Amino acid sequence: MTTTSDDSRRDQAASGSVSESLRSATAEAHDRAERATFVDDLMSGRLDAAGYRRMAAQLYFIYRALESVGDELAGDAVAGPVVDERLRRLPRLTADLTALGIDPDGVAPLPGVAGYVAAIEATRTDPARFVAHHYTRYLGDLSGGQVIRSRMKLHYGLTDETLSFYVFDEIDKLKRYKDGYRETLDRLPLDAEQMRALIDEAVEAFEHNERMFAELAG
Ligand code: HEM
Repeated sequence: MTTTSDDSRRDQAASGSVSESLRSATAEAHDRAERATFVDDLMSGRLDAAGYRRMAAQLYFIYRALESVGDELAGDAVAGPVVDERLRRLPRLTADLTALGIDPDGVAPLPGVAGYVAAIEATRTDPARFVAHHYTRYLGDLSGGQVIRSRMKLHYGLTDETLSFYVFDEIDKLKRYKDGYRETLDRLPLDAEQMRALIDEAVEAFEHNERMFAELAG
């Protein structure tokens, strides 16, 4: 469910550049995600390492889907330009989970996460919507993800060995990379309908994350 203000933001957003539109259409959802009880508790040190472990295990299902679809769409004119080997997270996440003592085969996706995965899978035939999922997760990892990494070390004593998910050591300057990513978004060959679909799906992608945080809190 989205609010009326999300809807009007989305309409407004659809008239600017892709990167600006995405940022403004998801701004409120971003604020909500950042303020989600689970995220706030995790970031403030009110949880424990087990809280992080539960989130990391759920991320496994999300990135497995995201990178499987990304591999399939790597040659696509719309989705291909954002797909980048340097962003691939699944091998790192798998190694982190092993170091955290988690076997993802023994974990079930939470219902909201199963819905998130289904939404990502549905973009195999809809590259514009795939870009929305790509943007929401990877730009988040390159931004807030860096803060998450330092807080997990600070509050819960997690080590680099368990947090390689947030390390992009094949990317020199994250800020420059994000600027380049936005320029790539702005050059994507999208028609008006694909543009609307992309913005719409990005808001949905944030909502999937909100749902996951609500489930992790419960
Ligand atoms: C721990 C909570 C979070 C913090 C502290 C945080 C922090 C930030 C910051 C500081 C930026 C701006 C970076 C820049 O302009 O270069 C940013 C951008 C972004 N974040 Fe977050 N974030 C958090 C949670 C999330 C979540 C849960 C998601 C979605 C899964 C997300 C997705 C994004 C995206 C897509 C951007 C890029 C916005 C744009 O420039 O278009 N963030 N975040």
